[in-house]
Amino acid sequence: MRRHVVDEMIGEETIAARVAALAAEIDAHFADTEKLVVIGLLRGAFVFVADLARKLTVPVEIDFLEASSYGNATESSREVRVLKDLRAGIEGCDVLLVEDIVDTGHTLSAVLALLRARGPARLETCALLDKPSRREVALTPRWVGFEIPDAFVVGYGIDYAQRHRNRPAIGTVRFID
Ligand code: IMP
Repeated sequence: MRRHVVDEMIGEETIAARVAALAAEIDAHFADTEKLVVIGLLRGAFVFVADLARKLTVPVEIDFLEASSYGNATESSREVRVLKDLRAGIEGCDVLLVEDIVDTGHTLSAVLALLRARGPARLETCALLDKPSRREVALTPRWVGFEIPDAFVVGYGIDYAQRHRNRPAIGTVRFID
């Protein structure tokens, strides 16, 4: 791991307010659902899913899927592998896919195709962070917490080489060597 410092970018209170606003919109969108399956993409979305799900009032089930496209580097590879699949089928279910960051879009696009093939009733996506300037696959999540510039960020579940996931705020990584 290169020597680095983290500069705060989005504070805890700002995140909490935005998560509550997103939950209100998602609640309204799925107001008539019998069951909403919230699928968190591991590992980066675990904190976001926990906070978002607790603000939802529609009936919710929670599952996780791990699809990897990143090693310990800061650049995306194009390959997406499913490392941990869902526990339950989603056919006929309303599904909300929750992602930490949409960067090139390869991960989200591959996971959406995989989920769509399983026949959900409605399938929507919510990303905490979006870096639209980095996009290589044309897709826009239905809900985005914050649009950010092309910087490498950590915290609130998001890591650099598995570090900083437990930071309560989101910060940018600045290398000092
Ligand atoms: P994509 O396939 O390029 O859109 O990559 C999305 C995934 O890459 C995210 O779910 C993150 O796990 C990871 N990622 C993208 N940008 C960052 C970042 O700035 N910090 C940490 N992980 C990132």
